[in-house]
This record gives sequence, structure tokens and C-alpha cells, in this order.
Amino acid sequence: MKKLKIGIIGVGRLGYEHACNIANRVPGSELVAIADTNFDRAKQIAEELGVTAVYNDPKALCADPNVEAVAIITNTASHVETEIVGTRSTLRIASVFRLILRSRL
Ligand SMILES: NC(=O)c1ccc[n+]([C@@H]2O[C@H](COP(=O)([O-])OP(=O)(O)OC[C@H]3O[C@@H](n4cnc5c(N)ncnc54)[C@H](O)[C@@H]3O)[C@@H](O)[C@H]2O)c1
Repeated sequence: MKKLKIGIIGVGRLGYEHACNIANRVPGSELVAIADTNFDRAKQIAEELGVTAVYNDPKALCADPNVEAVAIITNTASHVETEIVGTRSTLRIASVFRLILRSRL
């Protein structure tokens, strides 16, 4: 089965749980990239989960040609910014606050 290659933006408390699930518990998915403005945390979690593509800028993750879909799990204040970054690319996007963001935009 071909796996969907997912990049995750924001690996705080909730993002870390999603990252673990994508990497280890969802058969059709593969965690291929992590981005967090807290780059030390991003690198730490990437190492733990065996992810080699690590970014401190969500735009860089969205530009990674190996990433087919992104999950945005940043803190609430930055959702709009990161949603726009993803929407401008050809990526599939999942965001916990996508519906709220759509109504605001
Ligand atoms: N923690 C929970 O149980 C929970 C449950 C439901 C919903 N939520 C929602 O999920 C979202 C994330 O919650 P959390 O508890 O993981 O927050 P958190 O503060 O622990 O993590 C947010 C992460 O996003 C990173 N970040 C912030 N701006 C960024 C940007 N522009 N680009 C890349 N990374 C960025 C931060 O460095 C941090 O690591 C929030 O909107 C929260 O309301 C959380």
C-alpha cells in the first residue's frame, strides 16, 4: 500500500501526539517532515521518530517536494499564518481549526 507522506507543523503537546500516531499507528501514513519554530524541540522529536527532514519554518516544510500532506497543529495565534502558507501550495491540509479559519478568512 502506498503511504501518504505527511509533514507536521507544530510539535508541542498535541502535535507530538499526532506525530507519534502518524509515525507509528496509522498504517497508511508516513511521517516525513517536522517543522516547529522551536527548532530544538523539532530536532529532538524528529530524532525520536526517525524523521530526517526538520525545519524551523513552515514554509520550508511546505516547499519540501517529498511532503504530500501537512497537519497544522500550532498554537492558536499562528493558525492563520500557517494555514495560508499551506493553502498557497498544492498540499493537502489538515488543521484542527480549519473550519474556524475558513469562516474568519
Ligand atoms: N493540548 C491539547 O490537549 C489540545 C487539545 C485540543 C486542542 N488543542 C489545540 O491544539 C493547538 C496546539 O495545542 P498544544 O497544546 O499542542 O500547544 P503547544 O503550545 O504545546 O504547541 C504549539 C507548538 O507550535 C509551535 N509553533 C507556534 N507557531 C508556529 C509556527 N508559526 N510555525 C511552526 N510551529 C509553530 C510552537 O513552537 C509549539 O511547539 C492549540 O490551538 C490548542 O488549542 C490542544
